[in-house]
Amino acid sequence: MAILKIVEEGEEILRKKCREVSEITPKIKTLLDDMGDTLIKANGVGLAAPQVGILRRIFIIDTNAEESGNHNIIEFINPTIVSAEGHQEEVEGCLSIPGKYGITSRPMTVTVEALDRDGKKFRYTGTGLYGRCLCHENDHLDGILYTDKVIEMLDPDEVE
Ligand code: NI
Repeated sequence: MAILKIVEEGEEILRKKCREVSEITPKIKTLLDDMGDTLIKANGVGLAAPQVGILRRIFIIDTNAEESGNHNIIEFINPTIVSAEGHQEEVEGCLSIPGKYGITSRPMTVTVEALDRDGKKFRYTGTGLYGRCLCHENDHLDGILYTDKVIEMLDPDEVE
């Protein structure tokens, strides 16, 4: 258990393309554990490995992030978006860009195929908040930030 330092916008690592995980080693499992602790501590919905300084194709989401104290972390290793349907324009933020929010255009429902920590292939479908979160986290693995795609940045005072 460890809380990792979240890299912030401006650091070059956030702009790099991550490499696939070729073997799920104990080190990768520790990284997943630590990312989970870090995400919960930061009150976030999703966290990608490059945000903690690791250039690997890994991200996690918390599908219970809105209900405090009741977390449900899903771990995605070598994820691919296999389908994306519908459309939404909603508010997005990023733990690497603290205090800022913007409106993005994303698909409404997104299905990702990935490996779990046991190396087993699975599919997860997220809609609404989780649909845009899956896109956002997957973008991180290619060095893309939501601010690259934002339609309009918001005045932070008006968001929360
Ligand atoms: Ni982010």
